[in-house]
Amino acid sequence: MSVQFRIHCSFLRFPFSCSLLFLLFACSIHLTETSCREGCDLALGSYYVTSHASNLTYVASFFNLKPADVLPYNNLSSQDSIITGTRLNIGFPCDCIAGEYLGRTFSYTTQVGDTYDIIASDDYVNLTTKEWLAAVNSYEPNRIPNGAQINVTINCSCGDATVSRDYGLFETYPLRPGETLDSVANDFNLSSQKNLLQQYNQGKDFSAGSGIVYVPTRDPNGSHRPLPPPSNNGLSGGAIAGICISVGVIVILIIVVLYFGVYKKKKEKNLLPSTSDNQTTPLQQENNRTAASVDGSASRLTGFSVEKSVEFSLEELAKATNDFSMANKIGEGGFGAVYYAELRGEKAAIKKMDMEASREFLAELNVLTRVHHLNLVRLIGYCIEGSLFLVYEYIENGNLSQHLRGLGRDPLQWSSRVQIALDSARGLEYIHEHTVPVYIHRDIKSANILIDNNLHAKVADFGLTKLTEVGGPTLQTRLVGTFGYMPPEYAVLGEVSPKVDVYAFGVVLYELISAKEAIVKSGSQMESTGLVSLFENALNQADPRENLRKLVDPMLGDNYPMDSVFKVAQLAMACTQENPQLRPTMRSIVVALMTLSSSTDDWDLGSLLC
Ligand SMILES: Nc1ncnc2c1ncn2[C@@H]1O[C@H](COP(=O)(O)OP(=O)(O)OP(=O)(O)O)[C@@H](O)[C@H]1O
Ligand SMILES: *[C@@H]1O[C@H](CO)[C@@H](O)[C@H](O)[C@H]1NC(C)=O
Ligand SMILES: *[C@@H]1O[C@H](CO)[C@@H](O)[C@H](O)[C@H]1NC(C)=O
Ligand SMILES: *[C@@H]1O[C@H](CO)[C@@H](O)[C@H](O)[C@H]1NC(C)=O
Ligand SMILES: *[C@@H]1O[C@H](CO)[C@@H](O)[C@H](O)[C@H]1NC(C)=O
Ligand SMILES: *[C@@H]1O[C@H](CO)[C@@H](O)[C@H](O)[C@H]1NC(C)=O
Ligand SMILES: *[C@@H]1O[C@H](CO)[C@@H](O)[C@H](O)[C@H]1NC(C)=O
Ligand SMILES: *[C@@H]1O[C@H](CO)[C@@H](O)[C@H](O)[C@H]1NC(C)=O
Repeated sequence: MSVQFRIHCSFLRFPFSCSLLFLLFACSIHLTETSCREGCDLALGSYYVTSHASNLTYVASFFNLKPADVLPYNNLSSQDSIITGTRLNIGFPCDCIAGEYLGRTFSYTTQVGDTYDIIASDDYVNLTTKEWLAAVNSYEPNRIPNGAQINVTINCSCGDATVSRDYGLFETYPLRPGETLDSVANDFNLSSQKNLLQQYNQGKDFSAGSGIVYVPTRDPNGSHRPLPPPSNNGLSGGAIAGICISVGVIVILIIVVLYFGVYKKKKEKNLLPSTSDNQTTPLQQENNRTAASVDGSASRLTGFSVEKSVEFSLEELAKATNDFSMANKIGEGGFGAVYYAELRGEKAAIKKMDMEASREFLAELNVLTRVHHLNLVRLIGYCIEGSLFLVYEYIENGNLSQHLRGLGRDPLQWSSRVQIALDSARGLEYIHEHTVPVYIHRDIKSANILIDNNLHAKVADFGLTKLTEVGGPTLQTRLVGTFGYMPPEYAVLGEVSPKVDVYAFGVVLYELISAKEAIVKSGSQMESTGLVSLFENALNQADPRENLRKLVDPMLGDNYPMDSVFKVAQLAMACTQENPQLRPTMRSIVVALMTLSSSTDDWDLGSLLC
């Protein structure tokens, strides 16, 4: 990695920028790879009492506790022998371990005959798994010494502000055969809150009556404990993120200025007519290299190798998705169904395409798996047995359409919306300008913008249209795209240029402002109006700001800076102009949004540094 930096920095010929670059790099790692910032002081584990461990002293010892520590959360008549089948609540602090996951590590002394399996399922009654024990201990599963101290890590939850702020105390609850999410909801008196457990346990399959469920639970006095209010005291995670974003924006601005300076000079020397698709300038190589190096560090955590694209067997994919079960299905798009998978210990999304793979496909796929950018959903690999399957990194937090219009989600703050716009613009700019060959997405829409746990956005599905094209004449050609997002020159004449994406991006900006769908149904006759004309009508009136105000998402209340909203609306209007040549490039959109998001961050930075 240091080598990559040296190349990049010597290219910039500006040592000062090296340190800034490093800071930016560190910040981006912090922001993107941290899945938790802090834990919480209490979580519960549900311990199912078996004949193997039926007195409190013994059970408490597994959690390095005394019996008295366990009593407050339970109503026990006798400590000496507990009826088999009782579920005990064990209270423990829930830690954010290594910034990666929430859990608590207990120390357990091994005995003769112990295996990770026995320890997980008998001693810890499935509060952990043998795979997870093998992951947090250095001992090989078949070489665990007797009398050794091993780590027993039990995962826990502290709640999720995107689901509800009402629940801040959670129980780690291993399902027993015969139990289902519904039966658990019933037992915890949560049946009236429909889908609550589904939302807290997204993407998991409990059909086998096993697996760990996180259940919102009650304090000993019987009331739910709400999430603590978002903290902004001291240099907590949020503040660090704030500084990182602010510093990042400044650094990016500096780099952009330098970059343009150097780039322009080089370009003038070469005086090429235009950058054609297959042209690789040294600058582009540079760019690809840095992108790959950033990604390389990220993927070390994800366990898939970066360099080679991965070919999976159908058997492996079937196993990872429970035979493509309905329970694992997370979406259906124009190209096929999408399934949640746990593949090689990692979460993945598998897209089953309604088409077969040809030789040309493979070449194209190999190129696609090498495109890495923080704001693009990564294609990890594929499988070509029977149909074509594409394996993507799994993005936890749903798509933008769900965030804007789905039920049961916290409304996105204005600053998050600007961030999402900027992230998606960066992803698009990357495929338009820095990949070799360059790509045009052609199906930008809010359903294709996925949101991660830190409310950062990643563009999904790029390269798919190209993939369908290399299929050649055997494939039925279709005008790829979604009604409401297509510019006139494309919908009518089929003219393709990067400005097709710019137009669709403009529609997404209008969606971010209004939370309305790209096509709005209105009136008793169900007339439909596009967002573009809706906004244009409003903005071309005498008092555009007042008219715009009426279109702003009501969920924002009064919590939005009108200036910023107005600027985004103007940007959207520029993007959706009829003449494609008049629309800005993604690069200038990125710069505009960066300025906007840095001006919203100004206050933060000022107050933090003083
Ligand atoms: N990598 C992923 N991680 C998490 N969820 C995903 C992922 N990819 C897709 N999804 C979910 O599956 C849904 C369907 O995806 P898909 O991209 O196939 O369809 P679409 O975007 O709705 O339509 P189209 O195929 O026309 O682009 C998405 O909207 C998203 O909610
Ligand atoms: C508690 O159970 C353990 C294991 O079953 C047993 O070894 C121990 O003697 C029991 N203690 C009491 C006080 O019953
Ligand atoms: C505790 O259990 C006893 C019987 O075992 C029962 O009478 C009592 O109501 C219970 N208390 C609570 C608070 O549930
Ligand atoms: C743990 O899970 C396994 C496999 O699902 C099951 O056979 C076993 O009974 C479970 N143990 C307990 C104590 O629930
Ligand atoms: C605990 O969380 C980690 C990180 O998310 C995950 O890899 C692991 O499988 C989980 N373990 C269990 C037993 O759920
Ligand atoms: C337990 O975890 C700690 C911290 O991650 C680690 O240093 C230690 O080696 C682990 N113990 C074993 C037996 O692997
Ligand atoms: C379940 O909820 C109902 C109403 O919300 C309440 O009256 C009842 O006491 C609750 N039962 C338990 C066991 O908490
Ligand atoms: C219940 O107990 C918690 C602390 O355990 C406390 O914060 C909360 O106010 C209590 N609620 C009621 C209704 O007594």
